[in-house]
Amino acid sequence: MRGYYIAGNWKMHKTRAEAAELAKALVEQLRDGKHKYLVAPSFTLLETVGPLLKGSNIVLGAQNMAAEEQGAHTGETSVLQLKDLGVGTVILGHSERRHVYKEDDALINKKVRLALKQGLDVILCIGELLEEREAGNAEAVCETQTVKGLEGVSAEDLSRVTLAYEPVWAIGTGKTATPEDADAIHGSVRAVIRRLYGESAAQRIIIQYGGSVKPDNAAQLMAKENIDGALVGGAALKADSFVPIAKFA
Ligand code: PGA
Repeated sequence: MRGYYIAGNWKMHKTRAEAAELAKALVEQLRDGKHKYLVAPSFTLLETVGPLLKGSNIVLGAQNMAAEEQGAHTGETSVLQLKDLGVGTVILGHSERRHVYKEDDALINKKVRLALKQGLDVILCIGELLEEREAGNAEAVCETQTVKGLEGVSAEDLSRVTLAYEPVWAIGTGKTATPEDADAIHGSVRAVIRRLYGESAAQRIIIQYGGSVKPDNAAQLMAKENIDGALVGGAALKADSFVPIAKFA
């Protein structure tokens, strides 16, 4: 019933020419892909990549957005500007936004509500730090980030939200959570959604795993009951590694 959803987060990589080359390769090679796909390039690349994805099965995503609709916010990019470029989905609360750029749950929640109000879909990222995991707090951290990130989000709007569990210690480190550990967190997050929104919302919501997903570990992760896709960083930068993940068997 839940489909799989595989997203590529290109982070702060690629020039326009490099992005266009990758986008064209993905459109071509994922044409017969059976799942839902997204790529999220930098803001400067959206106008290049967007038209190349038109008519394909890959959604154009953004990696962040401002918490305000418009105004005096030097260096920020607004939801209206993203919509103008054909962005359908925005990734919010990525661990690099939380931990490097100090975004807290309240700010992330404000962005989530604004994106949904403006008609965008959201991928809301959650995940614990290594010290939080070692202290036995992984589930509690993910619960708090989920509850606070979704505060004020209606059941109807929740249908446009995907969650991405990304343990911070697994991002870009080559360390992946074991499928069992990841599935346990996914199950506990699904239980939080059940408590907040009921059983059918819990069954419907897609929870991606992110953190060193590679062609050789994608299938084992995806085989787990509560893992419904992937948010891929490093391996999303090349068609040779993203396509096998996107078409995991
Ligand atoms: P990674 O990044 O696949 O390079 O670990 C994942 C992410 O940050 O979304």
